[in-house]
Amino acid sequence: MNTAVTILGIETSCDETGIAVYDSELGLLAHTIHSQTDIHAQWGGVVPELASRDHIRKAIPLIEDTLAAANLTGKDIQGVAYTKGPGLVGALLVGAMLGRTLGFAWNVPTVGVHHLEGHILAPFLEPNPPSFPFLALLVSGGHTELVKVEGIGQYEIMGDTLDDAAGEAFDKTAKLLGLGYPGGAALAKLAECGNPTRFHFPRPMTDRPGLDFSFSGLKTFALNTIEANPQDEQTKADIARAFEDAVVDTLTIKCRRALDQTQFKSLVIAGGVGANSALRQRLQEMCAKRGVSLSFPRLEFCTDNGAMIAYVGCQRLMAGEWDGLDVKVYPRWLLSDLSQV
Ligand code: KG4
Ligand code: ZN
Repeated sequence: MNTAVTILGIETSCDETGIAVYDSELGLLAHTIHSQTDIHAQWGGVVPELASRDHIRKAIPLIEDTLAAANLTGKDIQGVAYTKGPGLVGALLVGAMLGRTLGFAWNVPTVGVHHLEGHILAPFLEPNPPSFPFLALLVSGGHTELVKVEGIGQYEIMGDTLDDAAGEAFDKTAKLLGLGYPGGAALAKLAECGNPTRFHFPRPMTDRPGLDFSFSGLKTFALNTIEANPQDEQTKADIARAFEDAVVDTLTIKCRRALDQTQFKSLVIAGGVGANSALRQRLQEMCAKRGVSLSFPRLEFCTDNGAMIAYVGCQRLMAGEWDGLDVKVYPRWLLSDLSQV
């Protein structure tokens, strides 16, 4: 494919159904997101079977809505991209089956996209996108990774979490504070009223060299602090603040180290925790001091969305990559296994 193409993107890897239409020349034409938070909140976490069933219910109506919002029909689509992994197997299969079926029906190529590549390249949906090479801090509910990005499909993992992901630590600590699921954003809101000096949480693995993370100890530290103190609203806010400060500090220290190591002049924040404003502010300050440019997508493209999948699919389809007739998903899939575009 060499001329302009309009691509439909389908994201169903976890608990958001995200649909988008991206045009290689005009950019993003329309996108919609349906979040399943209400369904899973009552169970305190994502229930995979409920996630798959809800994707089945919502995906086709959302595709119709998104095409209508872009003033298009299926006949205007030249390719379909869907999330192929990593994620929940049942949820991924819904998007993959739907994507492959639409491709077959419309007689257009389809391509399976790596969810994390979507997050890393989401800033390219915005004006003034970063230029290669750059360092990406990928912080989501399932991943905390520092990635050296030399180009599309050229990823080297420099640091990874040994246990809980940053978002998972936010969610578990939020649950301990009685904030429901997923509690990352609620915890951040509560932390705004917290006293930053009352409690001090450790900065895990910053006292030794290396770029790996470990966040599960912070959750235990939060639990012990909650049990040792009165349960008033101010105390909860103070604990939330101490926890958030510890995560933000730890992520900032490791980003600084990785920038030292690579000498890169560009940093990208991607994934749901990238929506955290304290983190954005701290990284902004650190980058300004070092003359490094910082990019992050708008808030709704930090969390899961179809736009990033449509964008990556568009790049890969234009490079001549597409699937055969079989339907495969990869619940586990390493970024470093991707092919270069
Ligand atoms: O990228 P994402 O939407 O889904 C995954 O691929 O995991 O990330 C979701 C994660 C959740 O853990 C959620 O609590 C966290 O991002 N999150 C936040 C904030 N908004 C979302 N964590 C901290 N502060 C926020 N403002
Ligand atoms: Zn995600």
